[in-house]
Amino acid sequence: MPKRQKKRYQSLPLNIGQPDIETPPSILDAVKHSDFKVLEYSHSAGNESYRKKLVEYYRKVGIDVTPEQIIVTTGGSEAILFGFMACMDAGDEVIIPEPFYANYNGFAVEAGVIVKPITSSIENGFALPPISAFEEAITPKTKAIVICNPNNPTGYLYSKEEMEVLKQVIVKHNLYLFADEAYREFFYEGTFTSAMHLKGVDDHVVLMDTISKRYSACGGRIGAFVTKNTALLNSVMKFAQARLSPPSFAQILGEAAIDLPDNYFDTTKAEYKLRRDIIVQRLNAMPGVFCPNPGGAFYAIAKLPIDDSDKFCQWLLEEFSYNNATVMLAPATGFYSTPGLGKQEVRLAYVLNATAIHAAMDCLEKALQQYHFK
Ligand SMILES: Cc1ncc(COP(=O)(O)O)c(C=O)c1O
Repeated sequence: MPKRQKKRYQSLPLNIGQPDIETPPSILDAVKHSDFKVLEYSHSAGNESYRKKLVEYYRKVGIDVTPEQIIVTTGGSEAILFGFMACMDAGDEVIIPEPFYANYNGFAVEAGVIVKPITSSIENGFALPPISAFEEAITPKTKAIVICNPNNPTGYLYSKEEMEVLKQVIVKHNLYLFADEAYREFFYEGTFTSAMHLKGVDDHVVLMDTISKRYSACGGRIGAFVTKNTALLNSVMKFAQARLSPPSFAQILGEAAIDLPDNYFDTTKAEYKLRRDIIVQRLNAMPGVFCPNPGGAFYAIAKLPIDDSDKFCQWLLEEFSYNNATVMLAPATGFYSTPGLGKQEVRLAYVLNATAIHAAMDCLEKALQQYHFK
């Protein structure tokens, strides 16, 4: 007797931020055609040729830095970790608007620092909490604020006015502003304001950057720690030296990326915007569902008529299918630090093409009709 096959469904993954957009072939070619005799360590701050090219890239997005103000890192992740470790002592506090990118928790644990969340709300699209919320959260132990713009997981694009509010807070309380701009290119309306565009706060601002999403190059593991604060650069260099060097091959890829045509992002942005429009329209058309229109990145958070997003997402995978498919979503509970929040919310990453997104939304619509709180 043949063994009974477990029924397999196609799962439509909207749960993680792995872009499906092709990595530009020309930048992969640059790596393929490199001809080392020895694959050496690079300079601990990254190849000078790459840092010089990065200066050109940053100039194009209105950020004026020198090669000496850039330390190339192993992904944006290492830039964040370096920032936490260099700017804070064990027991210090960092304020982060929640919901936030869940890995900040891991970096905080590694650096021995405490995350103090201030809650943003789906009702106003996850706008920056009011200045009073920051004031209430600040203690003598507070050393920094993290702002992820455009935001993962909310997709919220912070306005110039909101960035100016943050400037006021960091100046008044002498804090660092850690700006995670992993999704800088992906905004669909209005303008993007970098923390590096703020005037007069050079010693406060730390940019945590990455090529992962910009060029669909997550596996390259290349990021950058950028600041004009010389003392901070010197201490981060010690961490950079202790881990020897960032990846050599992917620095070649990163360097080649800066020669992509200026209109490179137009197609990618248009594709993400199309997907965003579909997902937001489809979600809001479902009874009891609310999804604010995210201004950037490739994420949306939706409020669903459910009791517990963890249970619901598990049920989707284990017990539900429609047209031989199911949808994978991320429960929003994992992005909140305050216990109990996010139970009715899920994050959707629009990293599938329009047809697959429609199929995923068909699944979700049917699932919400069938799901009974248990
Ligand atoms: C907001 C944010 N910061 C940092 C990272 C990590 O980037 P990297 O792949 O460069 O380590 C991610 C990855 O998803 C992210 O979404």
